[in-house]
Amino acid sequence: MISLQGRVDNYIILDNERYSYFAGNNYLGLAGHPDVIAAAINALQRYGASFSASRLTTGSSEIHKELEKLLSEFKGKQDAVVFASGYMGNSLLLKILQERYEIILADSFSHTSITDAVPRNKQLILYNHCDPVSLEEHLINNPDKPALIITDGIFALTGEIAPLDKLYAISKKYNAQLVVDDAHATGVLGAEGRGTPEYFNLQDVKDIFQTDTLSKALGSYGGYISGGTSLINQIRTESTFYGASTSLPPPVVAAACESVRIVMNHPELRAGLKKNADWVRSGVKELGFITNSDPTPVIPVFFDKSESAEGISHYLLKNHIIAPFVDYPVKTGKFVLRITVSSNHDAGQIENLLIFLKKWRDKNGTGNY
Ligand SMILES: Cc1ncc(COP(=O)(O)O)c(C=O)c1O
Repeated sequence: MISLQGRVDNYIILDNERYSYFAGNNYLGLAGHPDVIAAAINALQRYGASFSASRLTTGSSEIHKELEKLLSEFKGKQDAVVFASGYMGNSLLLKILQERYEIILADSFSHTSITDAVPRNKQLILYNHCDPVSLEEHLINNPDKPALIITDGIFALTGEIAPLDKLYAISKKYNAQLVVDDAHATGVLGAEGRGTPEYFNLQDVKDIFQTDTLSKALGSYGGYISGGTSLINQIRTESTFYGASTSLPPPVVAAACESVRIVMNHPELRAGLKKNADWVRSGVKELGFITNSDPTPVIPVFFDKSESAEGISHYLLKNHIIAPFVDYPVKTGKFVLRITVSSNHDAGQIENLLIFLKKWRDKNGTGNY
């Protein structure tokens, strides 16, 4: 495990040396953006490190309200509510919606915040990864049970985009609820960066629920949900996750406000991210490695053996490049080197990454037999 000695950017400092950084989820480089840092410092000086109270007691502030207003504008929704973490968001929403479903159908590659969120009195069924046919079969096999379908928007480790258009059509056909966890897609997908629904031209659809985080493309920390007034009011009045946990700390809130403004006003960041991601993905493919094809900043390199994924990650590390391996199979029998791209990667470091991937490939092959 690495131990950071400075901020996360396209390079990081470890043991007083500089490493090229293709890890984490700082897709738009906002975690270290000077305006985001300045906003956090100002808020720290004005409001202190914490409001030390929950939103429903005395922990709500003008900056929480400002952030929620900005998020609702950014996402094109009536309202938004922020809370302690993105991880918590799925539990919060599945609890709020629990009168509407009996079974939960989740993609088999769902993030653990989804599978952990299943209420005790509900049944979880996993459908095959990104497979609407498998989803529909489960719905046909459970005809009398109101269902809730839930998927990641962009999958955290494998980087594919969920087929939300197809899932939406199925949800309508079977009168099921549909939730997308857009932790990795918000700020990244869609013309305005609003996430997976926008990517599929479903932005104006009212019946897709979205859970979101401030901690990836938005470079800060915390979870949020945007949507219609009645849903957001219901969360504010009924959710214990929201009401009974300490409100997000002032520097975090102010940093998020600044990040949202930057995302809304600088579409060139998203364009730069896409350019870099396309470059790395096509380079990885040209070298003969197996990866995915969707236009996302998560670029997995799949290997048959964990030793290969681990070996290439260590080789890159020795050459001052950070790209972590995942030490369990994330796709049937496949182990992953998870490369993530940011808008602030420069041409030199992308070329360098591809050079070292090639050197490893020339010696070891593509790791698939
Ligand atoms: C799909 C998905 N949902 C939720 C989360 C949790 O978000 P946070 O880390 O902001 O709590 C993550 C984090 O990795 C994620 O990948």
